[in-house]
Amino acid sequence: MIIQPRVRGFICLTSHPEGTAQNVKNQIEYVKSKGKIANGPKKVLVIGASTGFGLASRITAAFGSDAATIGVFFEKPAAEGKPGTAGWYNTAAFEKEAQSAGLYAKSINGDAFSDDIKKQAIELIKKDLGQVDLVVYSLASPRRTHPKTGVAHASVLKPIANPFTNKTVDFHAGVVSDISIQPVENEEDVANTIAVMGGEDWKFWIEDLKAAGVLADGVKTVAYSYIGPELTYPIYRNGTIGKAKDDLENTVPVINDLLKDLNGISYVSVNKALVTQSSSAIPVVPLYISLLYKVMKAKGIHEGTIEQMQRLFADRLYSTDGKLTLDEKGRIRVDDWEMRADVQEEVAKLWDEATTENLEEISDIKGYRDEFFNLFGFNFPEVNYEADTNEVITVPSIE
Ligand code: NAI
Ligand code: NA
Repeated sequence: MIIQPRVRGFICLTSHPEGTAQNVKNQIEYVKSKGKIANGPKKVLVIGASTGFGLASRITAAFGSDAATIGVFFEKPAAEGKPGTAGWYNTAAFEKEAQSAGLYAKSINGDAFSDDIKKQAIELIKKDLGQVDLVVYSLASPRRTHPKTGVAHASVLKPIANPFTNKTVDFHAGVVSDISIQPVENEEDVANTIAVMGGEDWKFWIEDLKAAGVLADGVKTVAYSYIGPELTYPIYRNGTIGKAKDDLENTVPVINDLLKDLNGISYVSVNKALVTQSSSAIPVVPLYISLLYKVMKAKGIHEGTIEQMQRLFADRLYSTDGKLTLDEKGRIRVDDWEMRADVQEEVAKLWDEATTENLEEISDIKGYRDEFFNLFGFNFPEVNYEADTNEVITVPSIE
């Protein structure tokens, strides 16, 4: 079938198998170009492995340090004339590249919040790897069915105390406007968002993996967080999602306790704001990202997910000097370049100036759009989008 982008709101309903494969290939080439990561991970479980930071983590582990990887995600293959999801095609491409490189790679498609998928992952580790030495936790989801209570929690993206009014952009149309977002109406919205995006499920994974004896001595685990600039605080860090991130970060000492007798350790890494399927759904943030990209590209310090994860692994998690600098709250900061004072000052200035009229000129809205379409395998010069393509692609390790 001929697959073109079909956009509705902030999501793209179609994905291109050859384009997503190109995306994966580009990421692999980047990691290879940086050379091997000394003392990197060898057997890795990535939860949320099919897109965004999780996919980039998987690629970095595999092609940066020859790691065997098991990836868990929630994606859909093609069905009834509809292409599969980007994460499905990404994984198909990743597994094929891993196979040709002689690297073990298997995947599990299902609800990572469930006990059943945790069991499946444990069985697979036991059967094929014995133990894992790194667990990456990179889920981003709007909902979670709690495995113990059966309650279906839905997260919300809202301010907590007061309404929040600021600029936002419709990045497809290039229109800048004011948006007012009403605060949560009850504590339940906060609790639900924490239940979905907080640290409980990460803890459940580590508890189950530990109880099954599949965590290696010296195991590391890392989950991802975000802080960002003050202008997004009301909707992000001080909003419902921020409460969930607080909870995730507060889970670090709990997991460290669990891992103590294994000499293991857990980290939260605060990453840079990037275009992913999840971040494009947050109001205000896409305008910030398009201004941030402009400033960081001009300074030569722009990074995408793969650059971020390669730097996280090579310079932080597996730094050769064994020294790891953490912030005052014990977090890894690979958002350090985003948060540089000179970067933030310039973004703040551009923020005040941004209008529909000057958007193309003062922001990197074009780069934002490009990266958005890249997520779904579009806008790659190597791919002929007029040509018929086979949308029925299998992930080798999944029947
Ligand atoms: P993403 O949407 O690209 O990836 C989410 C992954 O989770 C996918 O692999 C998806 O299949 C998987 N997933 C979702 N629900 C699932 C379920 N029920 N069962 C199994 N797998 C499921 O998101 P992104 O942006 O890579 O986010 C990953 C983490 O990084 C999140 O914690 C996010 O808050 C954090 N982060 C994101 C930033 C950004 O700007 N995008 C910045 C800093 C942190
Ligand atoms: Na991810």
